[in-house]
Amino acid sequence: MLSTNPHAFEVTVSAPVNIAVVKYWGKRDTSLLLPTNSSLSLTLSQDDLRSTTTVRADPSFERDRLWLNGKEEDVTKNKRMVNVVRELRALRQRMEQDDASLEKLSAQKLHVCSQNNFPTAAGLASSASGFAALTFGIAHAIGVADKVSRSDLSRLARLGSGSACRSLFGGFVAWEMGSRPDGVDSVAVQVADESHWPDMEALVLVASDARKDTPSTAGMQLTVETSELLQERIRQVPQRMQDMKQAIANKDYDAFAELTMMDSNQFHAVCLDTFPPITYLNDVSRAVIHLITAYNALFTGDGRSGRGKKGYRAAYTFDAGPNAVLYILKEHVPEVLALVNRFFPPPEGEGERKEYFGRAANFMGSENVKAVDDMVSRIGMKPLERGSLRRIISTSVGDGPRILARGWNAHVSLLGEDGLPK
Ligand code: DP6
Repeated sequence: MLSTNPHAFEVTVSAPVNIAVVKYWGKRDTSLLLPTNSSLSLTLSQDDLRSTTTVRADPSFERDRLWLNGKEEDVTKNKRMVNVVRELRALRQRMEQDDASLEKLSAQKLHVCSQNNFPTAAGLASSASGFAALTFGIAHAIGVADKVSRSDLSRLARLGSGSACRSLFGGFVAWEMGSRPDGVDSVAVQVADESHWPDMEALVLVASDARKDTPSTAGMQLTVETSELLQERIRQVPQRMQDMKQAIANKDYDAFAELTMMDSNQFHAVCLDTFPPITYLNDVSRAVIHLITAYNALFTGDGRSGRGKKGYRAAYTFDAGPNAVLYILKEHVPEVLALVNRFFPPPEGEGERKEYFGRAANFMGSENVKAVDDMVSRIGMKPLERGSLRRIISTSVGDGPRILARGWNAHVSLLGEDGLPK
């Protein structure tokens, strides 16, 4: 049965970015992208950061084609994408074998057009949201999405990029490493949805450093090959996963903050233990760590070192680059922004300032200025040069992938009626 709508097998979707608080670093299988440890992330709001993808299947298309941020990519060279598409087509083929009346979409070629709303220069990993949108989009375009569970879809997204599996869910998401060699049990599961802890906010502090970092795929394998410290990390992560899930279930910010910062520190320690060493943190990152540590110390009391303190106000975490992501409870965001403002002076021009602060501006002005002045003098850190930070992105915890349009939609589709990017 042929459809009457010429573009019935098109869908446009969006998918979110996620930032881990227990990091994935290391693969036990590099072709199936099976990790050496489980990980856990927060999905960030798509209202602020997202990949949008249009997928169309059409009998007239001669080959699979992909456009990423306006540029056509050679699909055949993208092994990971080929793997994701092959698995999704295999699912469709099984459906068609079971029901001969179904359109033979498994044999049709796909046009995929994808765009991130954040600049690559923002230094945020786009592979997670990109592969999540690709997997979710193709699954819906060829009608397999309702036949498999969301965790099953996450397993397919994982074949594109490990961290992408976590972007198939909103809220707080674990990627359970699994134990099977074929990876069927290495999937993402939702630990708590986006409404669970509504006070949790995220600030991304984008460091001005255009230096090309070691890509995570290559970096993590070098770590697996050379770092003995990684083996100790792998031994510790199961307990940390349990503690983190508990902290989230109890909305225990102190435990959450401590575990988040310790895990980020440990991840960067195994990077440094890699040989030759990998350094993702730069002077700006280290200044952020110093500021947040000194700020927390004003409230965690008694000068005691060690774990299990109460009174944390901000938690930093860094991925494979110099940008900091701060997880902060809403009530403390104005104060943290005021401190960041003092120690990392923003640009002076009005237009530049507007762009620099973005939505973060909504939080500003409600802090207690006297209290902030007092904190600034007690923290006693030397302010960095103006321009050390490129911008601040303020966002919160958000939902999983969204369907923006089923079928061709002149306003929403990234493909024109002719099947080429608009
Ligand atoms: C530091 O998922 O980008 O962000 O699986 O090789 O595509 P591949 O790697 P990728 O690695 C992400 C590493 C990280 C930590 C994390 O997100 O858990």
